[in-house]
Amino acid sequence: MSRPWILGIETSCDDTAAAVMDPDGTVRGDVVSSQDSLHQDFGGVVPELASREHLAHIRSTVNQALEQAGTPLSRMDGIAVTVGPGLVGSLLVGVSFARALGLVIGKPVLGINHLEGHMFAPFVGREDPEYPFLSLVVSGGHTSLYLVHDLGRYHRLGTTRDDAAGEAFDKVAKLLGLGYPGGARIDRLAREGDPDAIPFPRAMLTKGGFDFSFSGLKTAVLYHLQEAAADVNPADVAASFQAAVVDVLVAKTLAAARKHRITRLVVSGGVAANSALRTRLETACDDQGLSLYLPSPRLCTDNGAMIAWVGRQRLRRDKAPSGERLCVKPRLSL
Ligand code: KG4
Ligand code: ZN
Repeated sequence: MSRPWILGIETSCDDTAAAVMDPDGTVRGDVVSSQDSLHQDFGGVVPELASREHLAHIRSTVNQALEQAGTPLSRMDGIAVTVGPGLVGSLLVGVSFARALGLVIGKPVLGINHLEGHMFAPFVGREDPEYPFLSLVVSGGHTSLYLVHDLGRYHRLGTTRDDAAGEAFDKVAKLLGLGYPGGARIDRLAREGDPDAIPFPRAMLTKGGFDFSFSGLKTAVLYHLQEAAADVNPADVAASFQAAVVDVLVAKTLAAARKHRITRLVVSGGVAANSALRTRLETACDDQGLSLYLPSPRLCTDNGAMIAWVGRQRLRRDKAPSGERLCVKPRLSL
């Protein structure tokens, strides 16, 4: 099917999201119902609360996306839904809802890998990607580098050995008393600080291949806060921590591009919204003649449009499911 209408549904973590994509690939409806305020008091996502909240909001979120698009559900040619990786209870809500909708309208339901959604988010509403490209997926749950040969053909070059970069942002934000989720708050506070004020470690900068490690950096921030006590300058801590993360992400990504002679870089996931990371990547890619593809900040964090995009590509390539029962896959990898 070359020109399908697609509904994309995403509930892998703590955002209930739905989007409608038209036959041209334009996003017609896009709704994200955030649970940030609910999890704020706990300093992180509470799985049981997340799934209950998805249950309470999935119907209205999907309805709003369809209303924005001005299209009835019956017009959809397929429904794309995240099947993993993610929280099992959260995934179950989206997948069960999508299967029910698929039965109602008699259309295929496509199970989408959340990481694949992030990987292709920069291409939502834009030209299809040219292959091969190098992809850095950097979010709250993942930090991995992939060589992408085609849709569905990925070679992982490296991944984090401990915390994901976004997880480190969230934990450091918690240490600084900034609340959850912390990435965007550190980003804002860092603008008032000096990135060279504190020499935080850049773990595995020149070793470990294309693997990452961020848990030592988080511990270094903790020790600094304990030692500096009353003299702590939160903006300097935020800026110096952020600079350490950005240095490692940019250095490893550029090294991988050089080694594999790749000229197209795609950086996505929640941390790709970080302004320092975006600026550094833009400058480095300009200097080295590389093409850089970044999603808009809204498409960096979890959303239904990126899931619809992958579903649309599959339908266009006639890779619709053959009627097997769709299951959640909480530990799915790429
Ligand atoms: O992609 P995402 O919404 O969820 C996962 O799949 O994990 O990413 C959420 C993560 C959180 O850790 C959040 O703190 C981080 O992305 N994040 C940021 C920024 N905006 C969101 N990290 C750094 N700077 C930002 N501006
Ligand atoms: Zn995500």
